Amino acid sequence: MKLTRRNTIKLLGAGLGSALVGAHWPGLAQGTLAFPEPKLLPLRRLESGLVEASLAARESNLSIGGKPVTLLTYGGMPGPTLRLREGETVRLQFTNHLTQVTNLHLHELHVSPEVDDPLAQIQPGQSRMYEFTVPKGSAGTYWYHPHIHGRVAEQLYAGLLGLIVVEGPVDAIPELREAEEHVLVLKDFAFSGSRIAPFTPMDWMNGKEGDLLTVNAVIRPTLRAQRGTLRLRILNASNARYYRLALENHPLYLIATDGGFVEKPVELRELLLAPGERAEVLIRLTQAGSFRLQALPYDRGAMMMHGGGMGMMNHQGMGGMSHGGEQSTLAMQGMMMGMGPSRLETLLTIVAPPNPKPLPLPTSLATVERLHLTKVAATRRFELGERMMQAEFFINGRMFDAGRVDVRARRGTLEVWELINKPDMDHPFHLHTDPFQVLSINGRPQPYRAWKDTVNLKKNDVVRIAIPFRDFIGTTVYHCHIVEHEDRGMMGVLQVEAE
Ligand code: C2O
Ligand code: CU
Ligand code: CU
Repeated sequence: MKLTRRNTIKLLGAGLGSALVGAHWPGLAQGTLAFPEPKLLPLRRLESGLVEASLAARESNLSIGGKPVTLLTYGGMPGPTLRLREGETVRLQFTNHLTQVTNLHLHELHVSPEVDDPLAQIQPGQSRMYEFTVPKGSAGTYWYHPHIHGRVAEQLYAGLLGLIVVEGPVDAIPELREAEEHVLVLKDFAFSGSRIAPFTPMDWMNGKEGDLLTVNAVIRPTLRAQRGTLRLRILNASNARYYRLALENHPLYLIATDGGFVEKPVELRELLLAPGERAEVLIRLTQAGSFRLQALPYDRGAMMMHGGGMGMMNHQGMGGMSHGGEQSTLAMQGMMMGMGPSRLETLLTIVAPPNPKPLPLPTSLATVERLHLTKVAATRRFELGERMMQAEFFINGRMFDAGRVDVRARRGTLEVWELINKPDMDHPFHLHTDPFQVLSINGRPQPYRAWKDTVNLKKNDVVRIAIPFRDFIGTTVYHCHIVEHEDRGMMGVLQVEAE
């Protein structure tokens, strides 16, 4: 071929395109149908047993759904998976190459809040070292994302997120080891041109959703299974979208929740993942064919404006915040309406191999400690509140204040927290550092024991959780994981003190 100027540009263009795409989704670049697995973060495993790695946040040009887009990422969408082993000590160097302040939160990896400091500020061009030991018994699926109060929603929505996978001895049991493992990062996007669509007042109220639903940043990918049993690690990395997951013709066998393994697989027809939650499931493919993993309709109580004008809705927790604009409340309520359930969506198609031979289910996975509620040091109430039109959110009538300690707990004690959600919207309640067990939802005990860090509350739900404060002291936070609500006040400060 003669290298005319036009050809050169075309070649360069093609080369550049595939280099960019190839870096993140090798399958797509080669024109095959390989499932778009996120990259692994390169680790240096030193002889001393120390693991070194580095991670940076930067503006990135990628392609989603075949269109070029500019995101903020940790070097790929999703960011590279940090795959660690129980017991290892990690030195993770994080650098901020953005033009705005950020930080890094290791969502529920059980590390000291002095390391995983939700209030840390890392300025553009600066770095911070995160040194921590991966706890024994913590095998499971976690994630990382920014935690700068007031900017979490925009930074997370723009693509700053990645998975953390912790491997442990349990993973060696044959029914897990021989399963085909994949990670599924669920995230929606809304673009305006090649940029993230700007946040509207409604986004701050409801949490921002988008019409582009992606799995590992690809719209409706296909997973061609090689084996009869799949093990999927699923993360809801969306700001506000809920996923009520179901697979055609197949139950899901839940093996792990936010905080690691359950005791034995739990058969589910569907699985609801609120923002921030993770789950691991086994899928036993018993027949050839294609099966859609779907997000079934779910109503999370989000609102929309009906007709013109400014709406006004007041819904507070306790504490009686002032009623702005009582004069128009009635008229306004007519204009604010529930959005209703989300649409049914296909997220992913799983193609079973010709003669699938699924493994038997593991009979036992791990022991989940039974907590002794005879020794509860404190029982506390947390009422969630919202003032919709102002997009202001409260816990016990107060908005977040980094300079105020809301709760003081003692290391070595067990507490019971009662979470109450009177407002219209669902709110996923998340606690940093220490995992908890859900004792009951509206008085009904949970069907199985599990460690969680995020629990969803529907309108009028009363959820009781038990939290053992075992080892770490320091200042940490709890908040709604619809991150717009967190940015707009629905967060509190917990200080764990020495005994
Ligand atoms: Cu993923 Cu403070 O949360
Ligand atoms: Cu967290
Ligand atoms: Cu919320």
